[in-house]
Amino acid sequence: MSLLSDLRVLWHLLLSPIRGDSHAERLNSFYAGQASDYDAFRARLLKGRGELLQSLPAPTGGVWVDMGGGTGANLEAAPWLSSCRRVVVADLCQPLLDVCRERVSHRGWNQVEPVLADVTTYDPGEPVDLVTFSYSLTMIPDWFRAVERARAMLAPGGVIGIVDFYVSRKYVPADRVRHGWLTRSLIPVWFATDNVHPSRDHLPYLESRFETVRLDEARAAIPYVPLLKAPYYRFVGRKPLHD
Ligand SMILES: C[S@@+](CC[C@H](N)C(=O)[O-])C[C@H]1O[C@@H](n2cnc3c(N)ncnc32)[C@H](O)[C@@H]1O
Repeated sequence: MSLLSDLRVLWHLLLSPIRGDSHAERLNSFYAGQASDYDAFRARLLKGRGELLQSLPAPTGGVWVDMGGGTGANLEAAPWLSSCRRVVVADLCQPLLDVCRERVSHRGWNQVEPVLADVTTYDPGEPVDLVTFSYSLTMIPDWFRAVERARAMLAPGGVIGIVDFYVSRKYVPADRVRHGWLTRSLIPVWFATDNVHPSRDHLPYLESRFETVRLDEARAAIPYVPLLKAPYYRFVGRKPLHD
């Protein structure tokens, strides 16, 4: 982490225009200039990834697909990585996947496959035991298709783990966090400039499609932004044994 590295990231987050006619081109345009600085800055911005991975059951002898896995930072935080038979890091952004490939080859993780793919259509070719999305769902325009793809690839009883930014609905059940008007209004508009879309619908949709195993709601500080904290959730769900 250095000031220069932070300045490069801030330039891309705040000022550099995102270009491209397709979703993949826009992702490449956004991330190409910050791919090598990504991990250091996102470690301070994208909270809860380590906690999520540590809370997930080890898919021992099984398959884990990290959807929108980017640089593969989650691989470092999964305490049970070596117990997996196969791990796929699927992502649509070539510059981030290049960092992932370098990481995987440097660490000698032979069971890990970085795959260039759109996760709304990606098919791993066999039933999987664990699917994760960390801060990727908010960047996928057709996020509901990505959730449905995850559900389709999971074996019955398989686990899904998600951590991401969100905002609450105006009215929420009594045991849920309710965000005030300013948070509900400001966060989606502000984050949308980087094509990140914190949604009030992710959690209700996830809970309608999976059995809830665990849900945590929290807020995280944003580097260089005093006072304002971004709400995020960690959701662990299970695909029902019988549909
Ligand atoms: C904020 S980054 C998070 C990356 C990583 N999961 C992490 O926690 O560091 C969002 C990721 O979602 C990926 N992404 C967005 N839309 C995608 C899609 N349709 N298919 C695959 N990956 C996608 C981006 O390329 C990017 O790597």
